[in-house]
Amino acid sequence: MAIRPLRHTSKMPPPKFLFIILLILVPICVIGIYTHGEKISYLFRPLWDHPPPAFERLPHYYAENVSMDQLCNLHGWTMRSQPRRVFDGIIFSNELDILEVRWKELHPYITKFVILEANTTFTGIPKPLFFASNRARFAFAEEKIVHDVFPGKVAHPGSQEDPFILESKQRIAMNSLIRIAGISYGDILIMSDTDEIPSPHTVKLLQWCDGIPPIMHLELRHYMYSFEFPVDYSSWRATAHVFSPWTRYQHSRQTDYIFSDAGWHCSFCFRSIQEFVFKMTAYSHANRVKRKEFLNYPRIQKLICKGDDLFDMLPEEYTFKELIKKMGPIPRSASAVHLPAYLIENADKFRFLLPGGCLRAQD
Ligand SMILES: *[C@@H]1O[C@H](CO)[C@@H](O)[C@H](O)[C@H]1NC(C)=O
Ligand SMILES: *[C@@H]1O[C@H](CO)[C@@H](O)[C@H](O)[C@H]1NC(C)=O
Repeated sequence: MAIRPLRHTSKMPPPKFLFIILLILVPICVIGIYTHGEKISYLFRPLWDHPPPAFERLPHYYAENVSMDQLCNLHGWTMRSQPRRVFDGIIFSNELDILEVRWKELHPYITKFVILEANTTFTGIPKPLFFASNRARFAFAEEKIVHDVFPGKVAHPGSQEDPFILESKQRIAMNSLIRIAGISYGDILIMSDTDEIPSPHTVKLLQWCDGIPPIMHLELRHYMYSFEFPVDYSSWRATAHVFSPWTRYQHSRQTDYIFSDAGWHCSFCFRSIQEFVFKMTAYSHANRVKRKEFLNYPRIQKLICKGDDLFDMLPEEYTFKELIKKMGPIPRSASAVHLPAYLIENADKFRFLLPGGCLRAQD
């Protein structure tokens, strides 16, 4: 076979023209990489990052009105004659509405609600004590509340406090507060963020069954802005522990076991835009607020109603397939089934967390 000649070689642009094109393109690329660096690195995350080791997912059985005895047996556990005591430990920032849903939902099963709040943000900015100044709202749980303030260090202007170090100091302070609350070996301790809510039937299993693993991660359905935007089942950081001398308060990988479909994780589920802005500038990823217009109220409102990302980021995924699947807004759900009962009973008060309720208070 004859080799076809390369016909266009004679039509190559003159070198001078190429040079001018490069002169224009190179600065554009440099500016592009500079302003969208994080986005570009997330686009290629499947190449530079590996997923954490896989979890062993423990099946979870539940239906209304099935006896506790039968439920324990289905998991390979046995029913106890007495329920365990359950302690719920959270480090609080400003999620007042979600805290109300959490505590109302779990109140019948919890011995003590242990809550620590700092007077600075993780980034070292003085912060109002949102819980302490709204404590009256939680009078329904008053006799179970064990609250303390973590004295944060204010970062000097210019110097950067490492948010992850401050976060870890608060977790250490949590260890003593749990003991002050009166926990004993053999009790259940839930470690989670305020917005990671185990379902009541999950807590009842932990209370009533013998033979449960001493540490389990809780797989939670992840929602963004409200229960109208279900993201996936990726939330895994919450854990349930049978309290022992070795138990330490953490919010990271602690075991290979994860208990399936164990509750809800509602991120950025705030009533007012002001609370979104507070969280966006205060939490560990505050560096994601790259431009001032990110905090513009109409912009935030529009993104909440679309289910789009507040930080203009790409999804954090480990494979290109998942990355492409998750790009763009979160598909809207019209289901308000299998949500916290307190939310449904008080739907008028929590309209903003339910389908069709995306418009937020502007103050
Ligand atoms: C559930 O249990 C209650 C009380 O034991 C009973 O009155 C009710 O009929 C049961 N519901 C179903 C759907 O079986
Ligand atoms: C935080 O609380 C500690 C202890 O009460 C106090 O010394 C410190 O000044 C407070 N910091 C701020 C920013 O309020």
